[in-house]
Amino acid sequence: MLYTSEFEILLTTPPGLEEWLLDEVKAAGFKRAKIIQGGVTVWGGWIDVWRANLTLRGASKVLVRVGEFRAFHLAQLDKRARKFPWGDVLTKGLKVKVEVVTNKRNKIYHAGAAVERIERAISEEFDATIAESMDVADIVIKTRIVSNNVLLSVDSSGDGLHKRGHKQAMGKAPMRETMAAMFLRACDYDGHEPVLDPMCGSGTFVIEAAEIARNLMAGRGRTFAFQKLASYDEGKVQKIRDEWQTRESTQHFYGSDRNVNVIGFSNANAKRAGIGGMCSFAPTPVSEIKRPEGPAGLVMVNPPYGARIGKKRDLVALYTAFGTVMRERFQGWRIGMVTSDRNLAQATNLPWLPTGKPIAHGGLRVHLFQTGVL
Ligand SMILES: C[S@@+](CC[C@H](N)C(=O)[O-])C[C@H]1O[C@@H](n2cnc3c(N)ncnc32)[C@H](O)[C@@H]1O
Repeated sequence: MLYTSEFEILLTTPPGLEEWLLDEVKAAGFKRAKIIQGGVTVWGGWIDVWRANLTLRGASKVLVRVGEFRAFHLAQLDKRARKFPWGDVLTKGLKVKVEVVTNKRNKIYHAGAAVERIERAISEEFDATIAESMDVADIVIKTRIVSNNVLLSVDSSGDGLHKRGHKQAMGKAPMRETMAAMFLRACDYDGHEPVLDPMCGSGTFVIEAAEIARNLMAGRGRTFAFQKLASYDEGKVQKIRDEWQTRESTQHFYGSDRNVNVIGFSNANAKRAGIGGMCSFAPTPVSEIKRPEGPAGLVMVNPPYGARIGKKRDLVALYTAFGTVMRERFQGWRIGMVTSDRNLAQATNLPWLPTGKPIAHGGLRVHLFQTGVL
């Protein structure tokens, strides 16, 4: 069965950030928003799919449930996949890849065999080729078999939505824009105060915060897989872009890092994002940063942590220095700090509030540590 008018849309996020994504999704007016593990589901039509891709800051991907059928054995899967109206979803000549998740509770429990049947059905019954890998596919069909129901979803985003289109140069261990946006939201950041990141790397927090202050559309600088689907309506997508309202901001945003190279990257990334004039980046070690003139705001940082870069003893010294600078020079500011290591967080000697759930990041579990106003 093909779904046509309203269907389930899954907005994915790293586990641990679902609550903040739900918050954003509800504020943006999406319908029937509900948390599931690793995401938020909403209901809507293609206009909602396009809007989610273009405007949400926290979603990693937008997956669209396009249809489902029952299949108890591979011959049935083959037959029903051949009958599925692929032409209502795909356009001719696309490179398609199918992904299947199943388990022993289903009659069809061999994912590889199921992929093979669905891919063959698509290529033989519809004029599409099968891509050699996910990386080179125009469209990925994500299939889940649950209680012998074959649930078909398309990845309407293509590249992960953290790729906003302006970050071309990166330092080590960059934060994903989508995660940075969720951490800022978790710190109640709404664009009306300055943000400073004293270990800014390629400038993700600073740029994301400046974009939020100007209410720039998150996906304004990139393309999406949905543009290749049968449902794509260029005029309606353009209308979403045209009706989006940015706002003026007098706030300023500050990034610094001891690594001169990444400061160059941050400047270039901010300029490409169109918010270069609102941001200042300086090659300064954390021990030497000064409190900016003007109103207090939010310090948002993810310092290095052991398993990724840096050595443990140096890290303790770094976190201690960061904590000292914050306590001595940043009275009136709040702090949000992302790290995997509680001992390092303690080394700052800052008055952390109780932390929430751990968040999956780069193969580790990180926590967001927050203070109230110092
Ligand atoms: C995990 S990375 C931050 C990544 C950044 N959030 C991004 O999205 O690209 C940590 C950064 O801390 C910087 N750093 C390490 N020690 C520092 C120090 N003493 N002073 C300032 N920056 C430092 C590193 O150069 C690195 O860019």
